[in-house]
Amino acid sequence: MAKVKKAYFCKNCGFEAPKWLGRCPSCGEWNSFTEEIIARESGSVAATIANVPTSVPQRVRDIRESDRRRIDLGNAEVNRVLGGGLVPGSLVLLGGEPGIGKSTLSLQLALAANGLRTLYVSGEESAEQIKLRSSRIGIGNDECLIYTETLLENIVAQIEEQHPDLVIVDSIQTIYTDLLDSSAGSVSQIRECAATLLKYAKGSGTSIFIIGHITKDGTIAGPKILEHIVDVVLQFEGDSNNIYRILRGIKNRFGATFEIGVFEMLDDGLHEVANPSEILLSHYDEPLSGIAVGASVDGIRPYLIEVQALVSNAAYGTPQRNTTGYDARRMNMLLAILEKRVGMKMFTKDVFLNFAGGFKIADTGLDLAVVAAVISSYYDRPINEGICCAGELGLSGEVRPAPRSEQRISEAARLGFKRIIVSGYLPKPSKSIKGIEVVRINNITQLPKALFTEE
Ligand code: TYD
Ligand code: MG
Repeated sequence: MAKVKKAYFCKNCGFEAPKWLGRCPSCGEWNSFTEEIIARESGSVAATIANVPTSVPQRVRDIRESDRRRIDLGNAEVNRVLGGGLVPGSLVLLGGEPGIGKSTLSLQLALAANGLRTLYVSGEESAEQIKLRSSRIGIGNDECLIYTETLLENIVAQIEEQHPDLVIVDSIQTIYTDLLDSSAGSVSQIRECAATLLKYAKGSGTSIFIIGHITKDGTIAGPKILEHIVDVVLQFEGDSNNIYRILRGIKNRFGATFEIGVFEMLDDGLHEVANPSEILLSHYDEPLSGIAVGASVDGIRPYLIEVQALVSNAAYGTPQRNTTGYDARRMNMLLAILEKRVGMKMFTKDVFLNFAGGFKIADTGLDLAVVAAVISSYYDRPINEGICCAGELGLSGEVRPAPRSEQRISEAARLGFKRIIVSGYLPKPSKSIKGIEVVRINNITQLPKALFTEE
């Protein structure tokens, strides 16, 4: 057995006990004790890895910049989200709900990063299962090794023997260290394993991707505690019934955190989507009511997205309000503004709202588009072709400028939209954008006219 000194600590008040206790004698909290390593003797794995050359304090201007090199992972969207490629020696956490495609994405990276020696450690799937998956997505890198193991000490030994450039650990919840008695996936195991991998990554310059599951309500604490330890946190999101996925940078010590990457999950793995607008807009033979187009910005990337609303007479006393991918409270607020400021009788109507692609939308700049779709469905009147919207709504019905409005306008112009409705309070741009008419409205009451009158 490993030579380490362990103790149990209460997560609530920090009380220390030599044994696990069900109830903390200090604060009275139940089930709050976790096992922690408090001292380890040299000889344990983590202690060996800790033999990293010690650094000395130095002036900022004396620090050499040679470490700016970035590794090309062979995937433009992932490179972009990482801020232009992977920094050697970084520890990256890839989080997401089960079944979203984390294993597929990371196996694809291991198999595509041509010229890199990669080690894909799986604690979840057998080698045959991984082989099956790799035949689906294609093998472009002969230097990719597959290793099915869950014991951290063995994984570290293999990393030391194989000297890979990139290691992928799928998933952090399945690996465990012998130093702790708690089971794999417990908070102390996750923390200890991640800390060991971090020391290894920093000491050897090997980059490590760790995969972490989060449940729908985010209950598993694991990935949350990891966020502080790792250099980069990426979140993979999307609706598993839909084919589109977004890779979002939540934290990045080496670049912007706002970047997103868009993918399509097809039969042969994840494909990069360079132009999200083109897939999020549908083309109909005839104009339909209840459909509006919003110019959105996610992070720093503009795209146009279709909003669909259905407004129908409520059969019961309390009308139904349903949204997919959109905050229901925000929709209720927008409906209340329509009721009060435009005089639409929303209290007798059921309202359903849907966004194309199954994306989760949090952009307030889409307020105008949501309201436009509701108005169009309410009056059963299609919005004129070639119109899109970008603006926020205030409680008094005032239309406020959406963040990064100029980018939204340029994207709409690029996609051939003839007119964009924005806030009248938006400062006039220094140079006008060609090919698109910018319609400015100050209040929601002006919106129906802007949507339905031909010019
Ligand atoms: P997976 O990567 O196993 O998810 P995670 O590791 O996040 O739990 O992805 C599982 C889903 O992806 C599964 O439902 C099947 C689907 N899939 C495809 O649609 N095409 C493919 O080429 C692959 C490999 C998986
Ligand atoms: Mg998986």
